[in-house]
Amino acid sequence: MSDGRLLTANAYQKIDKELAKYPLERRSSAVMAALAIAQNEVGWVSESVVEDIAGYLDMRPIAVWEVATFYGMYNLEKPGRSKLAICTNLPCALQGANKTVDQLKAKLGIDFNQTALDGSVTLKEAECMGACGDAPVVIINDREMRGKIGVEVVDSLLEELKAR
Ligand code: FES
Repeated sequence: MSDGRLLTANAYQKIDKELAKYPLERRSSAVMAALAIAQNEVGWVSESVVEDIAGYLDMRPIAVWEVATFYGMYNLEKPGRSKLAICTNLPCALQGANKTVDQLKAKLGIDFNQTALDGSVTLKEAECMGACGDAPVVIINDREMRGKIGVEVVDSLLEELKAR
């Protein structure tokens, strides 16, 4: 924590680095990066995060909410230990993403935007990640991309995630 704010000093330093890329009167241009930095630290974009970022960037909280709710990479609820997002856009769908989705939902006992009862995995639907050649593609915790996630690798993927 720093000065009664929500995030660590390290997180605000990272946000300051982003702010340095824009003119002083355009602090709001750093909002996406700031939300990502906050999410990385807190795990999700809570109301407190939105208010804190709004205050730090001199924005109205509603303007920060608009960004947070528009882009799918922000967690608006506390996720499980791992967030697994699978692309369902056409190239991935043509390579069997929907079958992988069905298998994931069945194995986890959840739908999209839900978290398995053991808290291990939150399942999300994702847009194209530009890696269509490796379809079907998933991304773990917004960082770790994996390709060729057919039904045959679902069990081992979930075992790996549950062990985290
Ligand atoms: S369509 Fe899935 S990564 Fe491009």
